[in-house]
Amino acid sequence: MPYEAKVDKKKSHSTSDQISRASRARKTLLQWHESHGRHELPWRKRSDPYAVLVSEFMLQQTTVTTVTPRFHAWMKRFPAISDLAVAEEQEVLAAWEGLGYYSRARRLHAAARSVMEHHLGEVPVKESDLLALPGVGAYTAAAIRAFAHDQHAVVLDTNIIRVLARWGNMITPIDTAAGRSSLEAIADNFFPKTGCRSLASALMDLGAMICTSGMPDCKECPLKDTCAAPAPETLPKKSPRAVITKLLEHRACFQRGDHLYLEQSLGPRWRGLWILPDLGSAKPSGRALAEITYPITRYRVTMKVHPVKSAIPAGLKGFSQEELANLPIPSPHRRAIAAILHTSHTNT
Ligand code: ADE
Repeated sequence: MPYEAKVDKKKSHSTSDQISRASRARKTLLQWHESHGRHELPWRKRSDPYAVLVSEFMLQQTTVTTVTPRFHAWMKRFPAISDLAVAEEQEVLAAWEGLGYYSRARRLHAAARSVMEHHLGEVPVKESDLLALPGVGAYTAAAIRAFAHDQHAVVLDTNIIRVLARWGNMITPIDTAAGRSSLEAIADNFFPKTGCRSLASALMDLGAMICTSGMPDCKECPLKDTCAAPAPETLPKKSPRAVITKLLEHRACFQRGDHLYLEQSLGPRWRGLWILPDLGSAKPSGRALAEITYPITRYRVTMKVHPVKSAIPAGLKGFSQEELANLPIPSPHRRAIAAILHTSHTNT
């Protein structure tokens, strides 16, 4: 019988059963983590709350592998929260390159300024203070409380949600209100009053290494004796997915000598970053100079870049290759520019 159903029907003794089951699970999980955990992750080696703040912003939508070198470079460029707070926005955006979703960089910058202004440069501990910082939602506030301050916090990221949904054999879709409250009940019971830093790290690592999103390696799992899922690979359940929509966009390549002309974006996603100008409704003819595709939220965008010989519109600015290297440019545009420069190089 599914675990959730068991809990509903046998309320009287299931609560104490669950507590002892959770406490056994925590014990075997923490033992496993001591010898198998990802203790080498650079943000885990630092107890500095600013480093935790930076890593959590970076990890919000980006993988550990991509974040690791960026995190090192960032901490070298902005070693303390005060360094970040006084930096120019263009410098912050340039340092964020490769991580995507640049609004996170702007919010991290604003959060650093707010910590300097309202908290004497110390990353706050209180949940309400954390939630008042730009870019800090429920997950990030909990992660900072647990990882930076080792305070009680129920940390629910994708990996932890998957582990707990399986461990509790949650059959309700996790993206529904009922699923969310069922997950929170399991998590509240699983997270201890103290030691949330180790427990959250251990759950994250189990999700990344053993209880992975494809077929989990249950034979190796430290939770195998307490896990309620008969078919963990089918969990967590989600409501039917939103459809991915294809989009096509045409961009202009104004290249004169060794200069490429770009515009500074005013749009919400890439505001302040330098991009290839939009061709708008002008119907391009002939072959594109470069074509790349990239995902963004629920879209899959194909960007085609066309050579344009007409006069350079006002508002564009020309950059040499060296200047382009240090300019904040979003990744899809950087890839298209690399393809253009490669083509013009092989054609000369
Ligand atoms: N350690 C602390 N936070 C983490 C995260 N979001 N992903 C992976 N490891 C982490």
